[in-house]
Amino acid sequence: MNETEKMLFDSINSLFENISLKELKFINLELSKKYKKQKQKTFASDKERLAYIASRMPATFKAIEYSLNEIINISPSIKIKTVLDLGAGPGTSLWALLSVFNLQNEEIKTSLSNICLVEKDEKMIFYAKKLLENFNKISKKITFEKKDILKIKNYDFDLVMLSYVANELKNYQIDKIINRWFFSKSKIIVFVEPGTKYGFTNIKYIRDKLIKKGCNIIAPCPNTLKCPMPKNDWCHFYVRVKRSKIHKYIKGGSLGYEDEKFSYVIATKENVKNPKARILRFVKKTKQEIHFTLCKDGKVLIEKVLRKDKKRYKMVKKLNWGDVFDV
Ligand SMILES: C[S@@+](CC[C@H](N)C(=O)[O-])C[C@H]1O[C@@H](n2cnc3c(N)ncnc32)[C@H](O)[C@@H]1O
Repeated sequence: MNETEKMLFDSINSLFENISLKELKFINLELSKKYKKQKQKTFASDKERLAYIASRMPATFKAIEYSLNEIINISPSIKIKTVLDLGAGPGTSLWALLSVFNLQNEEIKTSLSNICLVEKDEKMIFYAKKLLENFNKISKKITFEKKDILKIKNYDFDLVMLSYVANELKNYQIDKIINRWFFSKSKIIVFVEPGTKYGFTNIKYIRDKLIKKGCNIIAPCPNTLKCPMPKNDWCHFYVRVKRSKIHKYIKGGSLGYEDEKFSYVIATKENVKNPKARILRFVKKTKQEIHFTLCKDGKVLIEKVLRKDKKRYKMVKKLNWGDVFDV
């Protein structure tokens, strides 16, 4: 756990000092039912907002952090100083940005100079600010706008983010956002959604739109060919999230962690040096070989690497689901 993550988890915990966790647990259950039915459009109460922060924010933070790291892995020379976060909620993306670009990767020296968070729910902005209270170092660079994201016209930020928002938008609204981004000076756009069939349907729709406009894909796709994912399957990845006591209690889980599944797409108008392939599933190892399920050359295929092929085996033996496969 890095410093930023620790601070976020501490800030989340401190929000719940005087709140009935029993009630929150019940509300969280209702909230997840709504999400499962894709019915969540606005937070109906303050308890729903808090339930979202307690139960979802640690996991969505990790998923966004993972996605942002792919920008550094695939396109390390793209400089990111300014960010527009559309549908910012409690500021989840902001924390992921700080984790990836400010503190962890000293060698990148990407100092974020301006992060603009747009959110229509005033109370969520209140909580986003509250979570940042102890994070004095960066507070000057952050601006909050209480606004409908569809009214935002200025996309001239290096990076534009939409995390867990696309499923609250209609396709024509997504098109509008993609168009505005495309004709702006922005370099990169990131979408992160739940790693469900429905979440992936949104990501695939967005990917197709961006490619049609001539954009390149930074991640996860290793090319801009037609997506080869079969109809009943979906492209998703996962992050392991450590559960705090509160997290464990309101989710009713016994394990000290949970695996958060997510789908994402990162596109750019700049050139990209794509890897050969990306690993789409858990890697299977036998005594003789390793099996990788890959997205490669516009196909989903299995590639085997024999243990006796020592040079190649050494290069791939530590790779896992979600990693690039470039040998
Ligand atoms: C599921 S939350 C995700 C929040 C945050 N991005 C995250 O990753 O945790 C979706 C947020 O988008 C906001 N939102 C949805 N549609 C919006 C719109 N048209 N304008 C502004 N905010 C919007 C909601 O109020 C909500 O806070």
